Amino acid sequence: MTASSLKIIVTGANGFLGQHVVDSLKKKHAVTCLIRKKEIIPGTETLVYKSYGDDVIDSAIKDSDIIIHIAAQLHGPWKEMYESNVVFTEHLVSMASKYKLRHFIYISSENVTQQNQDSYSKTKELAEIEVAKFPRHLIIRPTIIYGPGDLKYVGRLIGIITKYPIVPVLGNGLSKFQFVYVDDLVQIINTSIDNTITGTFTIAGPESICYNGFMHQLMEAMGTRRTMLHFPLWMLKPMAHVFNLLFSKPPLTPTQLDNLSKDRDYDITEQVKLFNYVPVSLKNGLGRIIKQLHEKN
Ligand SMILES: NC(=O)c1ccc[n+]([C@@H]2O[C@H](COP(=O)([O-])OP(=O)(O)OC[C@H]3O[C@@H](n4cnc5c(N)ncnc54)[C@H](OP(=O)(O)O)[C@@H]3O)[C@@H](O)[C@H]2O)c1
Repeated sequence: MTASSLKIIVTGANGFLGQHVVDSLKKKHAVTCLIRKKEIIPGTETLVYKSYGDDVIDSAIKDSDIIIHIAAQLHGPWKEMYESNVVFTEHLVSMASKYKLRHFIYISSENVTQQNQDSYSKTKELAEIEVAKFPRHLIIRPTIIYGPGDLKYVGRLIGIITKYPIVPVLGNGLSKFQFVYVDDLVQIINTSIDNTITGTFTIAGPESICYNGFMHQLMEAMGTRRTMLHFPLWMLKPMAHVFNLLFSKPPLTPTQLDNLSKDRDYDITEQVKLFNYVPVSLKNGLGRIIKQLHEKN
């Protein structure tokens, strides 16, 4: 370790955001990834835990400076989600307090600001309450994150546009979104670590754009055009509830539909100043994803 290098625990290190965060942190810090399944994450120490109270978690945290808690269960029955999102967080917070860590960084979600009643938003909200018990905590609430490796939102849309001549659009497509590029979050986390920034922040991208406009930009970045077919939200709601009950990874959730009918238009001036970074524009972000996809194929 170099003089300014810290020992950092990352949960959710094998997920979309976690991989980007770890790739950046490991250049400077000693990173320990706490994960559920045995996996090699190059350049880090990976520890597999069997339960949320596993001793492996305790001994990992004991020697660390910072926890970045990214892991979250996105769908599933309430009891299971409560265990993974709230009980796990509570345990990490108590370990961080016991061993007097210098910083606890929690990746929450902008959903918690929207009064959503679904299990994901509710459990993230309850987890925030646990995190806030730790004195030097930072709670980051991102809007939808996009970037290479995302398969849930923009990544899924790219798949649909690639495969089909007609692209379904949920709702009238007029609600505004403010996607945030994954590198912006990585920058924010790095600055937060360097300056031990604490508090709770909603983090959005630099542009608020209606969904139809976003789809046009995405297709332009892909160098293609598709016809958009709009489906009214009232028609999709019952379907989303059924999907939520039937699938562990539902193709459509009630929360996604709720989110589709709300406008996002955050002023990010203060966020950019505090975290000292240059936000990636939507055009550049989409361009980077498509470039990477071309390089892969
Ligand atoms: N992506 C977005 O647009 C977005 C927006 C706002 C907030 N967030 C938040 O950002 C974080 C990362 O999201 P992501 O997009 O990177 O998600 P992701 O790709 O689905 O990764 C989720 C991570 O959490 C772990 N995980 C899932 N279920 C778990 C459980 N029951 N117990 C313990 N670990 C579990 C996964 O590990 P396994 O491989 O073991 O399943 C994986 O490492 C989450 O906290 C999410 O709430 C994401």
